[in-house]
Amino acid sequence: MQLISLNDGKAPFIYELSHIDASKDQLHPKGIGVERPWHRRLGPIEADALKEILAGKEVVLAGKGTGRELIGAVRAAASCIKCHQVAQDTLLGAFRYPLAEVPRE
Ligand code: HEC
Repeated sequence: MQLISLNDGKAPFIYELSHIDASKDQLHPKGIGVERPWHRRLGPIEADALKEILAGKEVVLAGKGTGRELIGAVRAAASCIKCHQVAQDTLLGAFRYPLAEVPRE
């Protein structure tokens, strides 16, 4: 699973979590939108799905065949608002869940 940053509408990107060294607190860079080596740009499938999320969808099933993935909205709950200065239910980001093909027995 990965987190997609909306980056205030400027070139959204994906946090490639597998590249992050947790001991260096790299998940909390100074300022949203600063490009880092462990960020990656959205591919066409993710970019299209994100457009639907931005248009108000909660979950989008994107891609084809074994490349399918779920893109889901991350919205501000009451507990998020004490740090994120936004109205409740505001879209804060999206999650990407690649769906692995499970072989049938
Ligand atoms: C204790 C304070 C705090 C709370 C509570 C909190 N966040 Fe955050 N959140 C942060 C900080 C700090 C960042 C990093 C901001 C940065 O990178 O500049 C962040 C980043 C994020 C990002 C990534 C933003 C981006 O585009 O890079 C998302 C998405 C997010 N939070 C969602 C949530 C949601 C959903 C909740 C509630 C379930 C929540 N946060 C609760 C402090 C908080």
